[in-house]
Amino acid sequence: MTAGLPAPGTCSSSSSGSTAPSASSIAPVFGAPLLLAEGKERLLIASDIHLGLEYELWLGGVSIPSQTKKILAALKGYLEAIRPDRLLILGDLKHNVPKTSWQERREIPGFLHQLSGLTKVDIVSGNHDSNLADMVPLGVRVHPPSGIVREGRGYFHGHTWPEERVVRSGLLVAAHLHPAVRLKDPLGNSQSHPVWARAPLKAEAIEEHYGLASSGEIIIMPAFNPLCGGLALNEPAEDMRGPVLAMADMECARLYLLDGTDLGLLAEIKASGGGSI
Ligand SMILES: [Fe+2]
Repeated sequence: MTAGLPAPGTCSSSSSGSTAPSASSIAPVFGAPLLLAEGKERLLIASDIHLGLEYELWLGGVSIPSQTKKILAALKGYLEAIRPDRLLILGDLKHNVPKTSWQERREIPGFLHQLSGLTKVDIVSGNHDSNLADMVPLGVRVHPPSGIVREGRGYFHGHTWPEERVVRSGLLVAAHLHPAVRLKDPLGNSQSHPVWARAPLKAEAIEEHYGLASSGEIIIMPAFNPLCGGLALNEPAEDMRGPVLAMADMECARLYLLDGTDLGLLAEIKASGGGSI
């Protein structure tokens, strides 16, 4: 069910000398935007579920039915197959900010109640999770955006700088970007695909922000909700999308499709002309 996610490669600020725990016990679930960390506890990680996205689409003139049942069925299927001890939702469970839509208030409590019937559920807050605490059933824990450390790995959403102890963990997992790559065929048609990105931490940024000499790494997760779009990492970014991009040495990031295909370093993909296939 899981596949390895090798280290990012041989860029100048690569992970040699990293204090990060072995990556052998943290791996993507084959074909899915899910990460499984195995240690004393089996932790399944999903991010950017964006329940309630349909409301924003409706405001923009696009009317589609609620996708919440479909997303819940997919997540429950993975939980039943993988049987983790805990599900960690790494931010952006809900979509609408600053206001919470009627759809979110109606659907999110039941969504979490059903998941918590299958396993323990923790949420690290993302930038879309305002008012979430009001909708969370008993037993589901909501953590601040500054992140958490579990079994030596640091988890945060990515729209704010994490706590220092998260950075000190050496292997960070973040989300927020909805990372993708745009690939072109020989006829010039292009398509965006969700990807995993694994990059060395940018030593200068870590030293400037925390006063730490860090040689750790960061894994950036693809979004669970396929409707919420992605940031094509091989195209010019419109903005910096928060600290996660400032912390990661993205030119040295190695990208992987959800089926495990190793696309190589982002810098090489860009140099090849924008990801031709
Ligand atoms: Fe998001």
